[in-house]
Order: sequence, then structure tokens, then C-alpha cells
Amino acid sequence: MQDAARVQVRPARPEDYEPIVAVVDAWWGRPVAAGLPRLFLDHFFSTSLVAEEQGALVGFLVGFASPARPEEAYIHFVGVSPGHRGAGLARELYERFFELARAAGGRRVRAITAPVNQASIAFHRRMGFAVSEPVPDYNGPGRPMVVFERAL
Ligand SMILES: CC(C)(COP(=O)(O)OP(=O)(O)OC[C@H]1O[C@@H](n2cnc3c(N)ncnc32)[C@H](O)[C@@H]1OP(=O)(O)O)[C@@H](O)C(=O)NCCC(=O)NCCS
Repeated sequence: MQDAARVQVRPARPEDYEPIVAVVDAWWGRPVAAGLPRLFLDHFFSTSLVAEEQGALVGFLVGFASPARPEEAYIHFVGVSPGHRGAGLARELYERFFELARAAGGRRVRAITAPVNQASIAFHRRMGFAVSEPVPDYNGPGRPMVVFERAL
């Protein structure tokens, strides 16, 4: 049973990689761990967030301020444990990230998802993102992606 008041959101640390990578395939319901190599926690932990309940991982966001596009921030992965969904935790992670990104000079935030991920598309719409049609070959031949963009 979920108790939202007991969920704590904190900045990520590099050592959060192991617990995160251990759950992503189950949380997504398909193999996605290859899309989250350790480098994301090693190099972007300071702009990433972890949600815990009594020390157990219940959500996370991996994102960063673009080094090449100073006004742009990017969210690479967000996940909430199946038992904690629908209670506003991903919204809280996004809002905390938006604050970080604004403080770093960000003016817009982008993310992408696979066209099959209807939950992610619905979530991003609710969070105020513009949602593209699937972009053919976005990540190489035969790998279309839906692109999300929102002002900060
Ligand atoms: C997508 C995901 C992160 C949403 O997490 P969550 O904590 O349940 O989302 P929230 O409760 O914060 O929802 C925020 C808003 O999005 C809406 N939303 C969230 N998931 C939704 C869904 N599956 N269908 C429709 N709307 C949805 C909520 O209704 C809510 O709207 P409101 O605040 O206007 O009432 C979660 O389902 C998940 O981890 N999925 C697997 C991983 C994944 O696909 N991640 C995204 C791609 S990287």
C-alpha cells in the first residue's frame, strides 16, 4: 500500500545505478536496460533524481542540461514503480527537474519515447509537452521515435 508522504525525492548519486538498472526492464515491461548505460549516472547524477520509500527505490528521473544547447534540457528516462503509479510521483520528479533546468538557464525541455509507449505519450501530454507524430528512422533505420517538447 502506498503512502505518498513517506516517499522522499533526493538528488541522484552514481551508486544509484545498480538499483535503477536492476528494475527498469520490469518497470517498462520490456527490455530497456541497454538504453541506460552507467555513464548516465556517472556523468549526470547531479541533474538526476531518485525517489525512495523507506530506503527502497520507487522512482527516478535521469536528465541533464544540454552541454551543447545551453537553453535546452533533456530527460532521458523517468520511471515509477508499478505500485506507486497514479499518485503524482512522476509529476513531482518532472517539476523538480524543471526547477533545476530553469536555474541552469534552461528555456525548454525535450524527451523522446518509442511509439509503442502510450503511457509515456499520455503522461507527457498531461505534463504540457507538445507531442510529435512518430519520426521515422529517428534513432537509425527502423527505429521511429515520438518527440516531446515543452517550454520551461
Ligand atoms: C509514465 C510513468 C513515469 C508515469 O508515472 P506516474 O507517477 O504514474 O505519473 P503521475 O501520477 O505523476 O501522472 C502525472 C499525470 O500524467 C497522467 N498519466 C500518467 N500515466 C498515465 C497513463 N498511463 N495514461 C494516461 N495518463 C497518465 C496522470 O493522469 C497525471 O495527470 P494529472 O496530474 O493531470 O492528473 C509511469 O507509468 C512509468 O514509470 N511507466 C514505465 C516507464 C516509462 O514508460 N517511462 C517513460 C518513458 S522514459
